[in-house]
Amino acid sequence: MKYIDKKLTIENTKIQNIAYKFGTPVYCYSFSQLKQNIINFKRSFQSFSPIICFSIKSNSNLNLLREIGKLGLGADVVSMGELMLAVKAGIKPKKIVFSGVGKTSNEISYAIDRKILLINAESISEIKEIERIAKSKKRKVKIGIRLNPNTDANTLNQISTGKKDDKFGVNKKSFIKVIEYCKDSKNLELECLSVHIGSQILDYRPYEKMLKVVDNIIKKIDFKFKYIDLGGGMGIPYNKNSKKLNYTKYNSIIKKFLKKNKSKIIFEPGRSIIGNAGILISKVIYIKNSERKCFIILDAGMNDLMRPALYGANHRILPSIKNSKMSKKIYEFVGPICESTDKFSTLTKFQELKEKDFIAICDTGAYGMSLSSNYNIRPKVTELLIKKSKIKVIRKRQKYKDLI
Ligand code: LLP
Repeated sequence: MKYIDKKLTIENTKIQNIAYKFGTPVYCYSFSQLKQNIINFKRSFQSFSPIICFSIKSNSNLNLLREIGKLGLGADVVSMGELMLAVKAGIKPKKIVFSGVGKTSNEISYAIDRKILLINAESISEIKEIERIAKSKKRKVKIGIRLNPNTDANTLNQISTGKKDDKFGVNKKSFIKVIEYCKDSKNLELECLSVHIGSQILDYRPYEKMLKVVDNIIKKIDFKFKYIDLGGGMGIPYNKNSKKLNYTKYNSIIKKFLKKNKSKIIFEPGRSIIGNAGILISKVIYIKNSERKCFIILDAGMNDLMRPALYGANHRILPSIKNSKMSKKIYEFVGPICESTDKFSTLTKFQELKEKDFIAICDTGAYGMSLSSNYNIRPKVTELLIKKSKIKVIRKRQKYKDLI
């Protein structure tokens, strides 16, 4: 994204023109940014060429998944719906891993039938269920076991998943027992140890700690895993002053680990692939002054972009046309939803805005549309993909007749 003649553009297309043509709110993705992110990700770890499974929960647009698949990525899915979508997007089952603490019998059965790369199990009960279903189908099913390494990811509490009180994975003690159980099973083929300690991680040290725990446990159990699935979690800078994850360091820690453990690495990145490739364009409907601040009331609400309300996340907001007049009041960007948490940002410095102006909420490619809802009976918004200056509608705005 950049300003050309004071007009904000995405892949050289003016935000304002997009807003006029397709209406607002509208999600808009840049293909070149997506492609660049994938190239950078692969390059960061090229010495051990990992299997990269895009985490579909971060963005589940079918057209985007097709592009992501064509760029060589597999998929990390957490439900039957996501698995069906990945297959529909043309992603080969042999490149799909299935995670999640609560897979139902139906979901397990479907995943077994599709012959996916791995089902990553998260409890002994789940393992027994996979075994029961595999036996009924006279199959030997490839599984992974997710370890809860009790490692603090140093990220928001709500998106931290690797501490002992988190519901995810099995703890070290049970892990050892579970391995023994799997070794003896005729219907389970244990191939993978998986971990995922959280999301939006900007410091490489939690990953270093996590790998130490993994290394120790492998030594203890004396079992060779074909795959080590390190999950995703790589954070992105949402603000100018934000830290950046040091990929060089992360890469060298993994290389050190691989010297002792000869396994294939799997990653499940979501945000780092699609996060900064998307924006949400919205229109200022009304401007309302209060004593201390000025409410910029947008046509996008928390149902369209939930991250600020759910996690206190802060996304940069940019005006579609730059001017040089600064507002004298504090601007609070809010949505139209009947909830006080329906606000995106409170800014002391922002240029003056008028009603009917457009703004872009940045870095909303991940967990933007995928977390959106119909709360307040609001139709889900249009999604667009810009590829070589061509705009393609990749999801149509829902119609009221779809909802009522
Ligand atoms: N693998 C597993 C097992 C996961 O649970 C997740 C994310 C990922 C991979 C992908 O993580 P990523 O690379 O995107 O950080 N809604 C929150 C994020 C929740 C993440 C859930 N799990 C947000 O908007 O920040």
